[in-house]
Amino acid sequence: MLNGKKIVLGVTGGIAAYKSATLVSKLVQKGADVHVIMTASAQQFITELTLQSLSKNPVYSDTFDEREPSVVSHINLADLADLVIVAPATANMIAKMAHGLADDMLSTTLLATTAPIMVAPAMNVHMYQHPAVIENMRILSSRGVSFIEPGEGLLACGYVGKGRMEEPESIVQIIEQFFSEATSATSNKPRLLEGRKIVVTAGGTIERIDPVRYITNDSSGKMGVAIAKAARDMGAEVVLVAGHIDVTPPADIHVVQVQSAQEMYDAVLELWEDSDIVIKAAAVADYRPRKASDRKMKKSGDTMSLELVKTVDILEQLGLRKKSQFLIGFAAETNNMETYAREKLARKNCDLMVANDVTSEGAGFRSETNIVQIYDALGLVEQLPMLSKEEVAHRLLTITAARIGGAHS
Ligand code: PMT
Repeated sequence: MLNGKKIVLGVTGGIAAYKSATLVSKLVQKGADVHVIMTASAQQFITELTLQSLSKNPVYSDTFDEREPSVVSHINLADLADLVIVAPATANMIAKMAHGLADDMLSTTLLATTAPIMVAPAMNVHMYQHPAVIENMRILSSRGVSFIEPGEGLLACGYVGKGRMEEPESIVQIIEQFFSEATSATSNKPRLLEGRKIVVTAGGTIERIDPVRYITNDSSGKMGVAIAKAARDMGAEVVLVAGHIDVTPPADIHVVQVQSAQEMYDAVLELWEDSDIVIKAAAVADYRPRKASDRKMKKSGDTMSLELVKTVDILEQLGLRKKSQFLIGFAAETNNMETYAREKLARKNCDLMVANDVTSEGAGFRSETNIVQIYDALGLVEQLPMLSKEEVAHRLLTITAARIGGAHS
């Protein structure tokens, strides 16, 4: 199961660091290619040489120790990983991860990777129960980091309680299960949308005030990009019309980059006739400045007014033009979710409306997860719990495929 899997193991400074030797050894025996990064504190507990000998790969601890001139080490490790696991993870490293600190080789690599991340905490029972640690773990969970719960028992500090790093044998089993699920998710994913042409919009539009200022919103593009990826995995031919996004779409997805609502409208309209499904996950500005100044506006009085005019409602325009296309909108709401979502569905002539309460923790803008309710003209189709945006995308497209009759023959 682990044959050829590239696993980056981060070892931080707790007494459980000694267990990392067994963990490396067992992963290597299972065929994994293990690359270890140690923090300076970890080196107080176990030597680089031990982990290098067991992994048969160089061990990294210094961000500036660039051994191979052709690559930047932390980016190289971040990119090569199929999985990054931090075991043991101290309260300090968990806090750094939660707050995006990058002040050593491990935290920098963790910030740079797009691979799945697992964390096996190990610390004193009171530290593990401290509100700050709990909050940091909650933040990381909401971003998709998975935790391997510590066991209970006698801790090295003398206390009895929860905080002992899970045993290496169990961690290896969890990793094997992770790869087994990931493999079956990709290889057995039915190609329900084979031959279908799908346009997905993602991100926020940018409405210019002048050459250096603009109006935008909090959309990161994660939801739209997740839909584009899931549609590709299900066999569809995907075009992603992207406003301002913070994530990099995969290289094999065709991206049309736009800025304003008008540009997004023009791009989508060009693709419209030829599409089977259009999904509008983008957060489009409802208003734009009446006139964008072509020079930087100068500061003058104590107040200034900006006259805004309505942008084109892209979804509504598509709804008016709908023939055979299946049209899906998203509704970003803060209250009365069902009422507003169903009103938008009807007014914009959509087949499905995906409503998210963007004030809920773990839903809406920027988060790795979303909590959505999917409506059609008759009412609620499906109410999903908090799921990764990838899983939300997959569920939405499965419903869509069923409704349009599956793949094109
Ligand atoms: O990008 P992320 O950070 O991952 O966040 C995801 C998200 C919160 C942006 C996404 O889940 C979402 O809710 N997208 C829709 C945001 C939005 O603009 O909602 P709305 O209720 O204002 O608009 C309803 C629908 O009309 C949307 O499909 C929107 O794309 C569309 N619309 C709105 C205005 C306009 N001028 N033209 C449009 O097409």
